[in-house]
Amino acid sequence: MAIISFAFSLTRVAMLPIFILLLCIPLPMALSLTFKKLPLPTGVNGPASSAFDSLGGGPYVSVQDGRILKYEEATACFVEFAFDAPTRSSAVCDGKSNYDDLGSTCGRPLGLDFNPLTQKFYVADAYAGLMVVGPKGGLATKLAGGVNGVPFRFLYGVGLDPLTGDVYFTEFSKVYQLRNFTQAVNNGDATGSLLKYNPLTKQVSVLLSGLSGASGVAVSADGTFVLVGELIGNRIKRLWIKGSKCNTAETFIEFQNGRVNRIRRTKLGDFWVAVNVINPATNFILPTGKRINQFGTVLETVRVDKEYSNTRISEVHEHLGEYYIGSRNATVTFVGVYDAI
Ligand SMILES: *[C@@H]1O[C@H](CO)[C@@H](O)[C@H](O)[C@H]1NC(C)=O
Ligand SMILES: *[C@@H]1O[C@H](CO)[C@@H](O)[C@H](O)[C@H]1NC(C)=O
Repeated sequence: MAIISFAFSLTRVAMLPIFILLLCIPLPMALSLTFKKLPLPTGVNGPASSAFDSLGGGPYVSVQDGRILKYEEATACFVEFAFDAPTRSSAVCDGKSNYDDLGSTCGRPLGLDFNPLTQKFYVADAYAGLMVVGPKGGLATKLAGGVNGVPFRFLYGVGLDPLTGDVYFTEFSKVYQLRNFTQAVNNGDATGSLLKYNPLTKQVSVLLSGLSGASGVAVSADGTFVLVGELIGNRIKRLWIKGSKCNTAETFIEFQNGRVNRIRRTKLGDFWVAVNVINPATNFILPTGKRINQFGTVLETVRVDKEYSNTRISEVHEHLGEYYIGSRNATVTFVGVYDAI
């Protein structure tokens, strides 16, 4: 007992200068003190994107084996909620990571968003197309498999207009699928697009094309603009969808060597963006989250490398003061959650 308390007081004394030092370290901060993992079922990995229902249930996460799983707080377990591909079988697909080969059979939901007014989940599935799932889950319904007669090649992100329910989504590239991700990046592919699905008319339209790795998408809280990430282009574009600048696009923010992944709007109208910063000399990846306001100013940068090392993250999703981290990587077998910053 005496030894323990001695050690404790020693630690406290030793902590003091460290604490003072920490206060002097500039941004980016580390969110490392309050990290927990919500483990995925055995064999399941790559939780790319998350969503919550209107009762706060979830997270619902889209994983590598082609399913959307729901976290049940009571049992602290993820259970199967939905899947995209009618051809999907549990025996062939559950717990599998080889979506390059299995994706067309099992599906690969990459983007996920929830409409609280209709209780529907919208899914951008890399292979199956733009899908929708009701509150009971199960097999998703396909809304669109292509546009203007051309099938989608590789869908990536989805984000809803909070006022109209219009569905904005991205096609990463017209040339490359998931298996060719690295080639797409190395070749500076710029064949991606931002699209819109109107749930009333059921029409799909192309809003922007020539995007360099179209990734995350989010509509502003007031519904006046859409942000779309360009993962290869290291920037975010803004397309105005209302007002005097309607239908004009501009660069919203650029990052040097920062691969822009998903963009999530917060309750207050800012955006969390997952940005993986590449060191060009070493190719080392620093996974970060950046909170950006509606004027394109970075308000804070948090690094998650203490928990994720040099693994790319795909999403930072703020929900009730917690931060849910997504990653497509097959080594990630949990949903990471940070507490308030
Ligand atoms: C995609 O990658 C596969 C093998 O990984 C290769 O055979 C194929 O040619 C690539 N396609 C393109 C368009 O680069
Ligand atoms: C997944 O992460 C590991 C560890 O950071 C890395 O070595 C690997 O290349 C990543 N895989 C992909 C497909 O990015």
